[in-house]
Amino acid sequence: IKRIALLTSGGDSCGMNPAIRAFVRASLIKGAEVFAIREGYNGLVQDSIIPLNWGSVASIINRGGTIIGTARSAEFRTREGRKKAAFNLIKNKINNLLVIGGDGSLTGANLLREEWFGLLSELVQEKLIDASIPESDLGKLSIVGMVGSIDNDMYGTDITIGADTASHRILECIDSILSTAVSHQRSFVIEVMGRNCGWLALVSGLATGADYIFAPENPPEAGWEDVMLEGLERGRVSGRRCSLIIVAEGAIDSNGNPISSSYVRKVLEEKGGYDARITILGHVQRGGVPTYCDRYIATRMAVEAVNYLFSKTATCEPMMIGMVGNRVVRKPLMACVKETQKIGALLKEKKFKEVVQLRGPLFEE
Ligand code: F6P
Repeated sequence: IKRIALLTSGGDSCGMNPAIRAFVRASLIKGAEVFAIREGYNGLVQDSIIPLNWGSVASIINRGGTIIGTARSAEFRTREGRKKAAFNLIKNKINNLLVIGGDGSLTGANLLREEWFGLLSELVQEKLIDASIPESDLGKLSIVGMVGSIDNDMYGTDITIGADTASHRILECIDSILSTAVSHQRSFVIEVMGRNCGWLALVSGLATGADYIFAPENPPEAGWEDVMLEGLERGRVSGRRCSLIIVAEGAIDSNGNPISSSYVRKVLEEKGGYDARITILGHVQRGGVPTYCDRYIATRMAVEAVNYLFSKTATCEPMMIGMVGNRVVRKPLMACVKETQKIGALLKEKKFKEVVQLRGPLFEE
């Protein structure tokens, strides 16, 4: 009988629970035994692993967050931590692992897979596990990843689990703000999450008719302050009673310097003479109940993750499950992580054209 474990890692995102539910039930249907590793990789390092059954995942399809807990584990980033993780997997006779998380979490999964045989032979040398294990079926680790991140920042998939719900949450907030903004003829600076990805800023700006959007992938040239103010002024002259500026938390200018929401407000007030306010949406964007879209993609991806673990190629290479053109796809996990992390480096090098190409059509157009 296949023994499969799953964990959620990094920042939580709406849709992780529907993913857990579908993964557990699809695994059970195929006859596997399923386990939850609690609190991300910390649970793997500390052997906090519990069995799950059909009922353990009942009534979670409409719940935000993750019922099995998540964390950013410092210990798992060390080789010693990963060795403990390998020991605990063997101890629990688990050699199939699903990781749901962002690029950092999936990098961790890949590292564990790369170091796996080295870690096992050290454990054998230290007589912590039986010498026959590395050659046995249990010694072959299969890993599959699903991307849970509100940022929609992963290369190789059109959408990540949680991005749709977060963008809906942002729209609800901005719609509420706009009614008061219009009454007072105010300008609002809304800061949204998205580390070094401007997807949330871009889609929420498009969907609310924002006057100006600051996203790291498309940094404005020097002198942008005047360009922005001229644009706002044109709107006011034509009868607009408010101004809306969306700033991604990782926004930068073309020299790579951060553009903070407080600086934008200062420009609006001191240079533009506007009555301006800031709202930093923060973690409200990660909470609430998952949308239809997040429940749907999480469910489809999870079923495919199970199919992959039951396939003949599962022991060969860690795969990431994504959605491309409304189809569920398998992609080599590390190649996707590498391309995603390249974006961070390219932003630092100010190679914005390459960044936009990697991000895809929404940013290119
Ligand atoms: O990666 C998801 C994310 O929500 C980012 O948008 C944000 O920068 C970060 O996590 C916040 O992390 P934390 O919850 O640890 O403050």
